[in-house]
Amino acid sequence: MNKKVTIVGAGMTGSTTAHWLAEREIADIVLVDIVEGMPQGKALDMQEAMPVIGKDVTITGSNDYAATAGSDIIVITAGLPRKPGMSRDDLLAANTAIVGKVVEETIKLSPDAIYIILTNPLDVMTYLAWKKSGLPANRVIGQAGVLDSARMRAFVAMELGVSVENIHCYVLGGHGDSMVPLTQHSNVAGVPLHKTMPQERLDAIVERTRKGGGEIVSLLKQGSAFYAPSAGIAQMAEAILKDKQLIVPAAVYMQGEYGLNGIYFGAPAQLGANGVEKIIEYELSEDELAELQKSAKSVAENIAALGL
Ligand code: NAI
Ligand code: 2OP
Repeated sequence: MNKKVTIVGAGMTGSTTAHWLAEREIADIVLVDIVEGMPQGKALDMQEAMPVIGKDVTITGSNDYAATAGSDIIVITAGLPRKPGMSRDDLLAANTAIVGKVVEETIKLSPDAIYIILTNPLDVMTYLAWKKSGLPANRVIGQAGVLDSARMRAFVAMELGVSVENIHCYVLGGHGDSMVPLTQHSNVAGVPLHKTMPQERLDAIVERTRKGGGEIVSLLKQGSAFYAPSAGIAQMAEAILKDKQLIVPAAVYMQGEYGLNGIYFGAPAQLGANGVEKIIEYELSEDELAELQKSAKSVAENIAALGL
């Protein structure tokens, strides 16, 4: 029997996640949304593309949670995206109600699932999903670090004219403007990133990475990024379904790592069949640790505002 991935929220990020997953041919996919007909229409359209790309997966759309029963992975992309001028934190109240409801509905039918959360504000929504689900923390993970690191990798590739495959970047911390792009652990084919370009070019890349989500929002004028975020979810889902033990930055529950406790926060995580198998602790400079603390403070304040 094929593995099963449910995606709740069949909007821009949800439907593109389904697309990337179908191309990987690793699971049957269920798309759920509150908008009547929309998940059914997108699923049927994608199903009709499968003969062209030669992938044997079933894609189903529904407005009914019954279709999600027995999922191996539940992806939550339901919720409001940012408009120009909004921060991710401005979405907190509306998306808390949506994500809370989605977890309540899905956990009853898929008690053994692993959750991957995308809805913003990401670190807080992942904490909420963990609390509402009652699952162990290793089974609830947030996607942000793959995206933020991919943005940094793309900007370095543009700067140096080197293949993206040679570029390894690590962005830790909360998924907000105080995220922490690491320049000493990042590298280009093994050469530390800070040795590959003048400091002012590196500083510009760090700043552009931090503001990467806002850059797309202001270009699109409505909605936010979807191709790169959904590619990030697909990579994480594949790592879990194939038990790859892949290390990627992700929002994970901190229990003393980097001196942090009781929050979901971006750190390098080894992903496998059990979700988060291990959190990797880098040796960081004092400056980097201070930046992480600053980012953590902002995430902790928003988690406290949930009142859970
Ligand atoms: P979108 O507006 O295109 O799609 C959201 C979908 O959720 C809509 O189709 C809507 O009908 C659905 N929805 C709303 N309430 C629902 C409910 N109760 N049950 C089921 N479906 C429901 O938005 P998009 O672009 O897909 O973004 C989704 C979320 O992901 C936003 O909060 C956005 O900020 C966040 N995001 C996070 C990223 C990250 O790296 N963590 C990156 C990109 C987006
Ligand atoms: C992003 O970084 C909106 O959080 C989303 O693009």
